Amino acid sequence: MLGIDTSCDETAAAVVAGGRRMLSSVVASQVPLHRRFGGVVPEIACRAHTENITRVVEEALSRAAVGLGDLTGIAVTNRPGLIGALLVGLSAAKAIALARDLPLVGVDHVEAHIFAAVLDREDFPLPAVALVASGGHTSLYLVREAGDLEELGRTTDDAAGEAFDKAAAILDLGYPGGPEVEAAARGGDPRAVPFKRPYLSPDSLDFSFSGVKTALLYHARGQNRKRRGAPLRPGVDVPGAAASFQEAVVAVLTRKTLRAAERTGARHVVAGGGVAANGRLRERLAEACAERGIGLTIPPPELCTDNAAMVAAVGARRLARGERDDLRLDARSRIDRWNPTRS
Ligand code: KG4
Ligand code: ZN
Repeated sequence: MLGIDTSCDETAAAVVAGGRRMLSSVVASQVPLHRRFGGVVPEIACRAHTENITRVVEEALSRAAVGLGDLTGIAVTNRPGLIGALLVGLSAAKAIALARDLPLVGVDHVEAHIFAAVLDREDFPLPAVALVASGGHTSLYLVREAGDLEELGRTTDDAAGEAFDKAAAILDLGYPGGPEVEAAARGGDPRAVPFKRPYLSPDSLDFSFSGVKTALLYHARGQNRKRRGAPLRPGVDVPGAAASFQEAVVAVLTRKTLRAAERTGARHVVAGGGVAANGRLRERLAEACAERGIGLTIPPPELCTDNAAMVAAVGARRLARGERDDLRLDARSRIDRWNPTRS
C-alpha cells in the first residue's frame, strides 16, 4: 500500500506491507520555509507540496524497492487539513490510481495518528482510549475497532501542539515550538511557576490550553503587553517557565486520558500526534498507565509527527474491509464532531 499525506507542512509518502510493516517512509519537511513566519503559511505549503510530491513518492517507492506495478492500493489523507495542501496529495493519488487502475482509499488524518501505533508492531488491544495531540487537534477517542471511533472530548480552544508553539514564541525559543520547549525544560524546575492546571469541570474530557498560555505570557512579558514587541521581563527563568508550562500541559493530557479509560472501561491507551513525541508526556503516561495496570502504546517519536506510513496503515485496513473510494473523492478541511471516520 502506498500512503500519501500533504495535510499540513510535510510532504510525505510511504510504502507499507500487510497493513503494518514499513518498507519506507519519506517525509520532506517544510520547516525552513515557514520558520521566518513563525507558523505554517498555507500558500507556501501548497507550492512546496506541488514541487515535492513527485520526488517524494518516487523516493518512497525506490527505498521500498517496489514499483507502481507491485502496489495493491493507494491511501491518501483527504481530511482534515489545509484544503489547498490536501488537494496536492489527493490529486497525485488519484492520478496514480487512474493510471494504474489501483483502488484509492481516503483516510482521516486523525485516525491515522491513532493507527501509527500498529506500525512495525502488533495490533493494540480493543477497545482502547486514544489521545491524539498535534498542532491542529487535541482529542480523546474510544476506539472500538478500526474505523469505529467515538470522540470523548476535544480542545475548546488551542490544540496542545499549538500551545507549545505559542509558548516557544513567548519565551523567544525557536520554531516549531514543541521540541524547543522540551529542550529548554530539561534545564528547568517544573515547580518554578505554579501554573493553574485547566481541568475544566471534574468530569470533563474536554481540554483548554489558552489560559495557561496567557498565564505564561503575563509571567514572561508582564501583564497587558502584546506578545511581540514587549521584551522578556528581566530575570525570567526561561527553563523554569518552559518546564512549568510543559508540566501543566502534560499533567492535564495524562489525567484526562486516564479518566477516559476509567469512564469507558478500556484497558489500553494509545497516544499519537506530534505532542506524543514529547518525552515528559511519554514518561507521565507510562507511569500513570502502569499504576492502574492499563496497557500503553505510543509510536516512536518520528511516527508521532506527520508521516504517510500511518495513512497507509489505515488505508490497508479500510481496503481489507472492502471499503474504497472513487475518483470523486474530495478534500475536506474539517472533521465531523462525533464520527470523524465517516467519509
Ligand atoms: O502531528 P503533527 O506533526 O502535525 C499535525 O498534525 O499538527 O504535530 C505537530 C505539533 C507541533 O505543534 C509541534 O510543536 C508539536 O506537534 N510537537 C511537540 C513535540 N514535537 C512536536 N510538542 C511537544 N513536545 C515535542 N517534543
Ligand atoms: Zn498530524
